[in-house]
Amino acid sequence: MKDKIDNLLSEIEKMEIKSKEHLEEFRLKYLTKKGKLTALFDDFKVIANEERKEVGKNLNELKNKIQDKFNHYKEKLEGGEETVSADIDLTKPANPVAFGSRHPISIVRNQIVEIFSRIGFTVKEDREVEDDWHNFSALNMPEDHPARDMQDTFFVKMSPSGGGEGGGVVLRTHTSSVQIRVMENSKPPIRSIFPGRVYRKENISARAHCFFHQVEGLYVDENVSFADLKQTLLYFAREMFGEKTDIRLRPSYFPFTEPSMEVDVTCFICGSKGCSICKGSGWVEILGCGMVNPKVLENCKIDSKKYNGFAFGMGIERIAMLKYQINDIRFFYENDIRFLNQFKSA
Ligand code: DAH
Repeated sequence: MKDKIDNLLSEIEKMEIKSKEHLEEFRLKYLTKKGKLTALFDDFKVIANEERKEVGKNLNELKNKIQDKFNHYKEKLEGGEETVSADIDLTKPANPVAFGSRHPISIVRNQIVEIFSRIGFTVKEDREVEDDWHNFSALNMPEDHPARDMQDTFFVKMSPSGGGEGGGVVLRTHTSSVQIRVMENSKPPIRSIFPGRVYRKENISARAHCFFHQVEGLYVDENVSFADLKQTLLYFAREMFGEKTDIRLRPSYFPFTEPSMEVDVTCFICGSKGCSICKGSGWVEILGCGMVNPKVLENCKIDSKKYNGFAFGMGIERIAMLKYQINDIRFFYENDIRFLNQFKSA
């Protein structure tokens, strides 16, 4: 029965209707009481019960196709067209629609979020236009602190009713500002990451852009140790870059952490043998981190005698560039379809 239906389907698909005579022929052959379709419906009356559902469905589809084809040509030929030149196959699928894909920054962001959520970090986001307190002062960078120069800042001009020119409002230069917002508004234990866009007044080049993305991490509780920080970052590095990855911590300086470190991972491109990505050293830098400076906890009214914590911050573009070996940050923002298409299966 199924074969009969399929055969009739391909027969009607092939049948060309170019004139009113062809259309009448089509009608007589398939749509009258003595036509082929009626014959099939007669066969259907006697088939086994368990086949009825499936065969009935196919038969109805066939009937609809025949009727559609008939209606289509009837309309055309009665609409004044004496003949139909090209036979249009209405059963053919429409032109394929190209699917989009996720942006590489979103792919890497989601991966980072997923890795940290597996060990209990929640995700929070906050504003990109920030006040001086949350972007700088509360992070132990009071006015005139030289560390403010580490990040060239965009200042926002406020309307007169909004506090006058300047008014200490900036486009956030890092997602560390969210640390402050979260610590001001919740009590320890805090274990969260904060992804988001940040802005810096940089000249645009292959290595730098005036906006990019970061993920900040914060863990505050009683008795948080340096070992906790190190193990968390080692776990992250192995999940992100492969299980053979190792990390190395180098002393550094950030006003909001004490001690502060920069973290390198073993170069996963060359297996630490030395290549252009790691500049021959076998190591690549991926983030900054440290134990939260007690002054920062106090600024957020958290008792630094009872609680301590660690924090870290990484650039998503940097991780994506390493992971996919992209050598120019500008590719991320140009929306060139030839670039974006390469991440379809990622
Ligand atoms: N905010 C730093 C930056 O944008 C990154 C950073 C370093 C964040 C150390 C931290 C940290 O939380 O502990 O360069």
